[in-house]
Amino acid sequence: MERIASAAELRATTARWRREGLRIALVPTMGNLHAGHYSLVRAARERCDRIVASVFVNPTQFGPNEDFSRYPRTLDADAAGLHAEGCDLLFAPTVETMYPFGLDAATRVDVQGVTETLEGAFRPGHFAGVATVVLRLLNLVQPDVALFGRKDYQQLLTIRRLVTDLCLPIEIADVVTMREADGLAMSSRNQYLSAEERPRATRVHATLTAMREAVQRGDSIVAIERDARVALESAGFRVDYAAVRRADDLAEAAADQRSGLIALIAARLGSTRLIDNLPI
Ligand code: PAJ
Repeated sequence: MERIASAAELRATTARWRREGLRIALVPTMGNLHAGHYSLVRAARERCDRIVASVFVNPTQFGPNEDFSRYPRTLDADAAGLHAEGCDLLFAPTVETMYPFGLDAATRVDVQGVTETLEGAFRPGHFAGVATVVLRLLNLVQPDVALFGRKDYQQLLTIRRLVTDLCLPIEIADVVTMREADGLAMSSRNQYLSAEERPRATRVHATLTAMREAVQRGDSIVAIERDARVALESAGFRVDYAAVRRADDLAEAAADQRSGLIALIAARLGSTRLIDNLPI
């Protein structure tokens, strides 16, 4: 596996692959890779001839009080894992390579419509940062396919909108959420959980499952959201949202809608913010 930090070298390699008629996949990540990330690499392998994974902790998607500086950086272990999974190229650029005009003067792309609610309401500017860096990565690599996890469902919808709206000739593929045996969605942030918090973190997935059952029973969405919030708060979470929304655009569902929905939760346990979702 090649390991590249320079944009010019990356372009030279991917241009050669394109000339050879090879299909290229991109798996964008912020590193500290776990089995969830590697499932994207495996899905990429099924669709394409060459896989580029990027590892870049993107400063523009973190708020001023978020965990940018303490976000776990484990590049050598990530490179070993990617190599073992059959990745062909690891692109690990510097901030200067991704933002040549600096962070404040950077050109930004702000996706409308799906970014204002839920995560967007609690993390102002987050999706503009995500869309901005993903557009740069897509332009650098020019892949045929880019893969994203359903774990970050609103991010997935945001990237789909970005690609459709800006007419990028790239397929966006999604991959199901990988979970620990007890249901906790795998996440680089899980390692912030203390030994005492870790077993309680399973309440997020358990609550999503209860929300799905309640929708299927026909309970009112207002009551389902209220009960989910109470359940999480009584387990010691501070809840940002526990919501049932339309899966295609995250708008509020009609009172009698029972399909095409998704349950989503963001909640804090101590200093760790967990997000997860479950399609209904
Ligand atoms: P990161 O959190 O590192 O996630 C990289 C990709 O892995 C995302 O598409 C995410 O949805 C997926 N992923 C994370 N946990 C997963 C799990 N348990 N199962 C399946 N897939 C999972 O998301 C980002 O980085 C960044 O916002 C990025 C898109 C790289 C832009 O900076």
